[in-house]
Amino acid sequence: MQIITNPVEMRAWSERTRRAGQKLALVPTMGYFHEGHLSLMRFAVARADSLVVSIFVNPIQFAAGEDLKSYPSNRQRDRKLATTNGVNILFCPDLALMYPENFQTTVTVTGVSDSLCGRSRPGHFAGVATVVAKLFNIVRPDLAIFGEKDFQQLAVIRTLVRDLNLDIVILGHPIVREADGLAMSSRNIYLSSQQRQAAPALAHSLKHAGSMVKRGERRPDVLRPKVAAILTSAGLEPEYIEFVDESNLKPVTAVGINTILALAAHCGSTRLIDNCRFG
Ligand code: PAJ
Repeated sequence: MQIITNPVEMRAWSERTRRAGQKLALVPTMGYFHEGHLSLMRFAVARADSLVVSIFVNPIQFAAGEDLKSYPSNRQRDRKLATTNGVNILFCPDLALMYPENFQTTVTVTGVSDSLCGRSRPGHFAGVATVVAKLFNIVRPDLAIFGEKDFQQLAVIRTLVRDLNLDIVILGHPIVREADGLAMSSRNIYLSSQQRQAAPALAHSLKHAGSMVKRGERRPDVLRPKVAAILTSAGLEPEYIEFVDESNLKPVTAVGINTILALAAHCGSTRLIDNCRFG
């Protein structure tokens, strides 16, 4: 495995690889790998000839007061895990090469960025869309893989690719969970042991809503308070509990096969998200 830090070198490598007829996959990350990231890598290896994984803690997707400065990192461990999971290139671009002083462009995807997480994190998805557009242009992959844990992020990227006619196939990967149901996240490390015990309540509340829907309940207004009760009784503070259509992220009035239940809740000062579909 090779590490590249310069976007110009990265693009030259991609160019050579594509010219040799290889199908190229990209998995963008912010590092501090967990099994969710590694599953995306293995999923990519099975679908392409070469795999580029980027590690870049993208400052423009963090608001003031968020955890940019304390975002967890262990590059040595990430390098080892990338090597053992079939990564060909670990692309760790220098901050100054990604955002030089005269950087002036923002890619904004309106509509799908505005609801759910976008409401409490204004500018976050513009930061994500901008860096992903840059990564796509540097790496020029044939396909790129994103996790369904961040399903709004995935919807933003799909919209970006559609609207800007980018010739890249976007694949979603199912949520990877801990044994007790907690969706894996680099930020789970922020949880105290007591908070870690409370955090699976997100997954439990989704399961509970799923079984109510299976028994015939379709009304968001009936399901929402049940989900909220499970979260609050575990000591979590719900930020949103929304039933949305997966195609446009707009709220639905009845749960159907295209409905996603999306949650964000605060566990102490850590913000956790999770979701499930009912199809
Ligand atoms: P990061 O949080 O490092 O996540 C990188 C990729 O891993 C994303 O596509 C995310 O959805 C996926 N992922 C994280 N946890 C997962 C889990 N438990 N199961 C499945 N997939 C999971 O998301 C970002 O970085 C950044 O916003 C990025 C896209 C790299 C842009 O900066």
